[in-house]
Amino acid sequence: MRTQVCIIGGGPSGMLLGQLLHKAGIDTIVLERTTKEHVLSRIRAGVLERGFVDLMRQAGVGERMDREGLPHDGAIISFDQDEIRIDFDALTGAHVLVYGQTELTRDLYEARESEGLPIIYQTDEVTIHDADTDSAYVTYATPDGEKHRIDCDYIAGCDGFHGVSRKTVPSNVRREYEKTYPFGWLGILAHTPPVHDELIYATSERGFALCSMRSHTLSRYYVQVPLTDTPEEWSDDDFWSELRRRIPPQAADRLVTGPSIEKSIAPLRSFVSEPMRWGRLFLCGDAAHIVPPTGAKGLNTAASDIHYLYEALVAAIIEKDASGLDHYSEKALARIWKAERFSWWMTTLLHHFPDDGAFEQRMRRAEFEFLGENRHAQAALATNYVGLPF
Ligand code: FAD
Ligand code: DHB
Repeated sequence: MRTQVCIIGGGPSGMLLGQLLHKAGIDTIVLERTTKEHVLSRIRAGVLERGFVDLMRQAGVGERMDREGLPHDGAIISFDQDEIRIDFDALTGAHVLVYGQTELTRDLYEARESEGLPIIYQTDEVTIHDADTDSAYVTYATPDGEKHRIDCDYIAGCDGFHGVSRKTVPSNVRREYEKTYPFGWLGILAHTPPVHDELIYATSERGFALCSMRSHTLSRYYVQVPLTDTPEEWSDDDFWSELRRRIPPQAADRLVTGPSIEKSIAPLRSFVSEPMRWGRLFLCGDAAHIVPPTGAKGLNTAASDIHYLYEALVAAIIEKDASGLDHYSEKALARIWKAERFSWWMTTLLHHFPDDGAFEQRMRRAEFEFLGENRHAQAALATNYVGLPF
């Protein structure tokens, strides 16, 4: 088989890139290790920056998102009993859209399927060959054990943190930067009305909690937990009572509880791999970088990569100008590092670190009070939260 761009990974990065390239008349094949059902069962991000929203529209898949997504003009940050409202609209003139990763990925799958574009599921042993030459190709096996080969002009490595693409970049070329955090987020999804019409990022001496949502009737909540905890150890009742103790009292009084329909723990990590290009291989999204979820930047950093790579591939393939590809890694990384900084800062401000003493606690409190008093500090938070320009 032959294609112009072989996309490894059918998560949001790979599917969005595939749809955009199709609109530009460029053909792609997507290889996905699992099944569509599996991809669509993963409950992950929920907050979209304007840049992501615009790309979905540009890809022709924004209709349901525009109809069902919830625009949010602000969010609450709380510290013990005290709350600050960050008014995104007044501070930046922009807002974010609450629309689940599961939903936008479903929209992308439906669009790709309705156009009859190829996705190969349950691929095994995906291997990238000769990416540093002009005759790159990808091989994989299907569940029946048969081996296949795709020759291509370019390879987009959109296969997440555990994929093969990043590891294909030789270790003497690759530089990795990593910070792991000594806690995770236990998240639940419940068919209950959200506790508030805006997100609440809460911290207290018991640790971090986040009140989010997917719709007016579907809530998403998280609490910081030790990495040694498992979802099975947490009954729904335990979760609700812990959440209630970490959020502001007025919110705790309003909280409507119910049975969870999903419960999982995600570890927190900051990670960047440089460069994001090796020959004809381009890394996008979680394949190249991870942020801790505080600040809602994971999926949104994938979107900026897709934007830069899409523009560069169109210039290279349609206009025969490959200079954009030469600048892809540098451009993408410049924005990634700022999102890394913001996510690390939000995480540090709002979590309880087991080794921290009273001094660090006071520093966090002082930072919160400064944020409450200082419009410039609020504007800095809001500017990063709604998303830096591409
Ligand atoms: P992925 O979504 O990881 O998609 C990669 C795809 O590649 C997968 O479908 C995978 O099956 C496939 N793949 C892997 N290896 C291969 C291979 N060898 N061959 C072919 N296909 C392969 N972000 C937030 O902003 N907020 C959140 O609350 C949040 N929660 C998260 C919870 C968890 C448990 C995780 C892991 C991430 C979370 N994120 C969150 C981050 C966000 O979901 C990611 O940034 C986003 O999914 C990145 O999209 P992606 O397409 O780059 O990677
Ligand atoms: C959600 C997740 C986040 O990490 C975040 O910062 C905001 C919202 C969510 O899943 O809704």
